[in-house]
Amino acid sequence: MCGIVGYNGSEQAAPILLEGLSRLEYRGYDSAGLAVRNASTPIEIVKAKGRLRVLAEKTNDGEALHGTCGIGHTRWATHGEPSENNAHPHASDDRTVVGVHNGIIENYQELKEKLLRHDYVFYSDTDTEVALKLIHYYMGKYAGGPVDSIARAMTRIRGSYALAVMFAEYPDEIFVARKDSPMVIGVTDGACYIASDVPALLKYTRSVYYIGNQQIARLGKGTVSFFDIDREPVSVEQTEVKWDAEAAEKGGFEHFMIKEIHEQPKAVRDTLHSLIKEDHIDLSGTGLTDEDLRKYERIHIVACGSAYHVGLAGQYIIEDLARMPVRVELASEFRYRNPLLTDRDLVIVISQSGETADSLAALRLAKEKGIETLGIINVIGSSIAREADHVLYTLAGPEIAVATTKAYSAQLAAVYVLAVQAALIRGCIDEEKYKELLNEMEQLPAKMERVLEDKERIQWFAAKYSNARDMFFIGRGIDYAISMEGSLKMKEISYVHSEAYAAGELKHGTISLVENGTLVVGVCTQNHLFEKTRSNMVEVKSRGAYLMGLTNYGNYSIEDTADFTVYIPRTDAHFTTSLAVIPLQLLGYYLSVARGLNVDKPRNLAKSVTVE
Ligand code: AGP
Repeated sequence: MCGIVGYNGSEQAAPILLEGLSRLEYRGYDSAGLAVRNASTPIEIVKAKGRLRVLAEKTNDGEALHGTCGIGHTRWATHGEPSENNAHPHASDDRTVVGVHNGIIENYQELKEKLLRHDYVFYSDTDTEVALKLIHYYMGKYAGGPVDSIARAMTRIRGSYALAVMFAEYPDEIFVARKDSPMVIGVTDGACYIASDVPALLKYTRSVYYIGNQQIARLGKGTVSFFDIDREPVSVEQTEVKWDAEAAEKGGFEHFMIKEIHEQPKAVRDTLHSLIKEDHIDLSGTGLTDEDLRKYERIHIVACGSAYHVGLAGQYIIEDLARMPVRVELASEFRYRNPLLTDRDLVIVISQSGETADSLAALRLAKEKGIETLGIINVIGSSIAREADHVLYTLAGPEIAVATTKAYSAQLAAVYVLAVQAALIRGCIDEEKYKELLNEMEQLPAKMERVLEDKERIQWFAAKYSNARDMFFIGRGIDYAISMEGSLKMKEISYVHSEAYAAGELKHGTISLVENGTLVVGVCTQNHLFEKTRSNMVEVKSRGAYLMGLTNYGNYSIEDTADFTVYIPRTDAHFTTSLAVIPLQLLGYYLSVARGLNVDKPRNLAKSVTVE
């Protein structure tokens, strides 16, 4: 999704803005631009299609743009093709209002028609140009100043936005507004910074403000004040970001993805240790009580992409351990389905970013219906974290690669903890079993490290199959949920067409796609289902498939069937996802590297999908 940065201080703004934008590259973009000024100079705008380095070359790494106040943007096209003309910043024709925007303005056509009636003309296909010209219109009509005109525009705009705007008549200030799109503000002695995400600010400050929904911020050189949509001053709390700057660097690894794959044991250890204290699960930080866990009759897990796959694994685990019915649903479906919910239900929204538009909308729908909500979230202070009734923070640290790995693993750990606690409270397991499960969980990080030691074999296998065109991942039960995640990794970063199938379902149609040399990965970590899945593997092998098997140490009979096997350490059957997913992440990663692709920033994808 689009990335926004801003700087207002005493240094030259353009190099700082370019550096900030480079920290947001992971969000995905197709063009970029800067707007910079000094107190006595007009606002200068430079834009470029393509990678950030094109913009850097055009501005001589920012040196060619003079000014200590500016805004920058990386654009991920929604309205209008990727082009220099559609790139941000956009401006009113007299350049008195210049701004950048992240989000989608749903009624932009209606607003555009209104402005056309007032003789405005438009040079781009973007909704952003409409928003800025609307602000310009209100500046002229009511002459109430920037906060007033932005607030008036906000009451007319439907949709989501994070806006950063400069006004010619207010040379030393930047104005920010947001609704349902992320925006963070950092203030130091003598300077203010803005960014769509924390990694762009970490170099300068860890004290940040998360501007609230439908609020406006007025940024001077080291000062910030906040207003609500009625232009009334409001106070916003300053938050200390715990992540260190190093966590957002590659630290010697070739890509963020492989670095984050290696950080998974730590992400899981940290998340577990925040929830297990003195050999007991302690959910007090989330606000969930034992009474709550006893009271709920049904759980709905709502999420997108990999977070949804965590939910699919969670369904098997929670239903089996705590004997509670769990329904897992894609947030984009849940939000338009008029779901049947009762006041004894709990809606769990899982999200790394806490900003995914569909997940946020699903959370709001549940809240509107008066249902209790729990967010399992990685980004502190994000929209879902702020709006959910209860929050369980995963401690994965900043995740930069578009393909999630460590956040996924930390989410799984959070789900295990919830499942085990609910199982104990609801009398489904005794204290002895509880201790045994906690002990198994504690051992997961070390076992994950052991799986990582086997990476060279997977690298070799990926290089051998780098020309694969089609792939299938099959498994039953939890192994089906693992297969879904393995298949997504393959698609998103290696661009290999792949499908995940419940192993027993294959013969109901899909098996006709299997031909000589088709790569099929059979996931067999559930011992009670091992023989069943293995016989499905035999079925595809007899139709010419090349088979990779993924199973626990000890299940060596798989070698009678599979052409290549990866083993994972044994653990409790409910927790195998944490170990089995790693070889599949590595397979996707090494295949992408072998094909020479942009691993961390795959085409067409954005890290955080803040539009519908
Ligand atoms: C996974 O690798 C993807 N990047 C994507 O499916 C992601 O999990 C999904 O967009 C949800 O994001 P969230 O966790 O930030 O809500």
